[in-house]
Amino acid sequence: MSEPSHDPATDSSVPRHVAIIMDGNGRWANNRKKPRHSGHRAGVKSVRLSVEVAAQRGVEFLTLFAFSSENWARPKEEVSSLMNLFVEALRRELDELHRNNVRLKFIGALHDLNAGLREKISHSEHKTQTNTGLNLTVAISYGGRWDIIEASKALARRVSEGSLQVDGIDDASFAGELQMSPMPDPDLLIRTGGEQRISNFLLWNLAYAELWFTDVLWPEFDEAVFDEALNFYAGKQRRFGHTGDQIEAVEC
Ligand code: FPP
Repeated sequence: MSEPSHDPATDSSVPRHVAIIMDGNGRWANNRKKPRHSGHRAGVKSVRLSVEVAAQRGVEFLTLFAFSSENWARPKEEVSSLMNLFVEALRRELDELHRNNVRLKFIGALHDLNAGLREKISHSEHKTQTNTGLNLTVAISYGGRWDIIEASKALARRVSEGSLQVDGIDDASFAGELQMSPMPDPDLLIRTGGEQRISNFLLWNLAYAELWFTDVLWPEFDEAVFDEALNFYAGKQRRFGHTGDQIEAVEC
């Protein structure tokens, strides 16, 4: 993997954090009269490519939605083939990710996963924990509402123990209990597969993200499509509720 092509510390036209909803594996397989799991397998290649391109362009955080809380309702065979695919992808890719200085993290209700996958997850997080390159976060068994409920419970516990006042609950204390803490919020959300919705992904964290949708199916996501999304982002003025004139005055 090559070095970033610019200085991420000074170039605000590159998003610091990109989140991706990887949709369209099933349709990609259907179009080829193949079983759905072959679409998921083909999707691993796009995961590898997006990690490489993100690191090369100077993105610091890449967060991928691999399996939602709602995906447990899929047919049993599809769920188990996805779980096996996660184990296999970790076994195959971990050394290469580590060599490329990628720091891996998983978010979601990980206690719901089988013991084999949980073991692979904690091994890969442990192995890469001191790496200083791209921060790659994979959301598995994750739902934005679940995340907010768990954070609320944690805050309620702190209030009942007396270590937090009710009026001490603010943006920062709430965000601090969410799964993504202490990572910055995504600047850019990419969704492949043609649907234009958030599907219970990082509901709190995406509050100010720029949203970019493409009809391209996830197994066909490539460098050119990723660059299209990054160019869209580079052309945006991020106002966070301020006026354009206020932002321009600060930039001058
Ligand atoms: C959505 O497409 C995709 C998923 C539920 C699985 C995503 C998983 C991978 C790309 C596998 C590898 C991931 C990692 C991190 C190793 P869909 O099945 O909903 O597509 P459809 O809408 O066309 O049916």
